[in-house]
Amino acid sequence: MQAKNKSVNILGIETSCDETAAAVVADGRVVKSSVIASQTKLHEKYGGVVPEIASRAHIEKIYPVIAEAIEQADVTKDDIDAIAVANQPGLTIALIVGVTAAKTLAFVWEKPLIAINHLHAHLQSAVVNNEDLPLPAVALIVSGGHTCLYDYWSPLEPKLLGSTIDDAAGEAFDKVATILKLPYPGGPSIEEAAEKGNPKAIKFPRSLLGKDSLDFSFSGVKTAVLYHCRGQDMKGENKVDSMSGQQIADIAASFQAAVIDVLVTKTQRAAEKIGAKTVLLGGGVAANSKLRTALQRMCEASVPTKKLFVAPKQYCTDNAVMVASLAYYKFKAGLFADLTLEPKATG
Ligand code: KG4
Ligand code: ZN
Repeated sequence: MQAKNKSVNILGIETSCDETAAAVVADGRVVKSSVIASQTKLHEKYGGVVPEIASRAHIEKIYPVIAEAIEQADVTKDDIDAIAVANQPGLTIALIVGVTAAKTLAFVWEKPLIAINHLHAHLQSAVVNNEDLPLPAVALIVSGGHTCLYDYWSPLEPKLLGSTIDDAAGEAFDKVATILKLPYPGGPSIEEAAEKGNPKAIKFPRSLLGKDSLDFSFSGVKTAVLYHCRGQDMKGENKVDSMSGQQIADIAASFQAAVIDVLVTKTQRAAEKIGAKTVLLGGGVAANSKLRTALQRMCEASVPTKKLFVAPKQYCTDNAVMVASLAYYKFKAGLFADLTLEPKATG
């Protein structure tokens, strides 16, 4: 018989883009294991994620990663109460690897299956260990594939307020790093280069899309960097090779400042619109220290509880802890998927 206060152990699986990850989390907050096989090295030379390569690498890694997560957590299949998997949004041929593994385990081990939205999971990573979050909150998720603002009342029902109409913030970081010939992935490289740069050196555009809009657009600032390096007619050579380290640093810092200004302005707008008491920040770009500081300042100036809840750095980029953690709330609510679950590119 199951003890009354036995904890709920969930195995989470994440394969939406270029990280194969598995984790065991108890009661949505106690991380028993977290294993991530990153594919950064495989995609580096292409300057971005190549879906076919990502899918093949997931197939290779999925079994050892899950096995390691279970071993590190020091549990057996009998201790696992449910299998959770991110099934949307993401690269379909990457998601399908995690979804197939999760369905197989759920069937063979006779466990409930839980479908998780990858973006809602990113949001959860800012909430883990913060159950007494003053609500409502505005949540900003900034990753390589998405830039979204949510009205957050509960883990299960975040309401989308706005999202990018073109490039995601992380994508813009990655593309600008390619223009500046900085190493992949671009976000950390730009942040590092920007350390020595002057954020006011070049006035790159801040696209706000109208005074009430909560959507984002980052293709303009990316193109502005391109023009700055190649000339307006794009006929010139990329001047980056002949630029000094200081010039590159100034471009990186000015670009980063433009993106952060837009993210902060839109988050503030959203906070005012819903009367937010707190702000949540998650996704890969949330690892950026300047963004964290700027949003913290904004909270101090205009959010009642003055609090910014940010995902710990190791859970900003893709991981399975966020999947298993969010799944706990679905488990408690009895929201299970069946074996017809499919991956979905959007969501
Ligand atoms: O959330 P994530 O791991 O994957 C997606 O779901 O897309 O985010 C990866 C993105 C990449 O675009 C990467 O360049 C960006 O997060 N990133 C950063 C930083 N660290 C990672 N962007 C800005 N500053 C950083 N320190
Ligand atoms: Zn992600």
